[in-house]
Amino acid sequence: MAIDFTVNGSPVQVTAPEDTPLLWALRDDLGMTGTKYGCGKALCGACTVRIDGTPVRSCQTPVGSVQGKSIATIEGLRASHPKLVEAWVQNNVPQCGYCQAGQLMSASALLDGTPAPTDEDIDRAMSGNICRCGTYGRIRAAIREAGEART
Ligand code: FES
Ligand code: FES
Repeated sequence: MAIDFTVNGSPVQVTAPEDTPLLWALRDDLGMTGTKYGCGKALCGACTVRIDGTPVRSCQTPVGSVQGKSIATIEGLRASHPKLVEAWVQNNVPQCGYCQAGQLMSASALLDGTPAPTDEDIDRAMSGNICRCGTYGRIRAAIREAGEART
């Protein structure tokens, strides 16, 4: 079936079975490979995108469920959250980089709802995003810095 939604503000249409994971619609149908496949079971957060502002696991989200919705992915983050991206760069957050798109999408949602988060806020909001390289300290520092930069 044909499913219409927006990605980073641009209208798109995907023709696929409605139970196709949004992750594969983004990567294979739309060529947006910034969103990563980690576990495929909603456990690691590597595939996190935002749907109508809420961070979700795209590996477990049927594309049929996003008809008419607004999707934000890592490809649009520099435009939507420049200070967050800048803080990530300044703090040299990534190591291998694989988890980072998901981390950034969760971080952007946190900052939209809580512009100056405490460490507790950060830990709670980011707890579903696993980093096997252990970049958690730098992630926290970058989010704190981006929060301070916005105020
Ligand atoms: S790939 Fe979706 S949560 Fe791990
Ligand atoms: S930077 Fe390697 S998994 Fe997070």
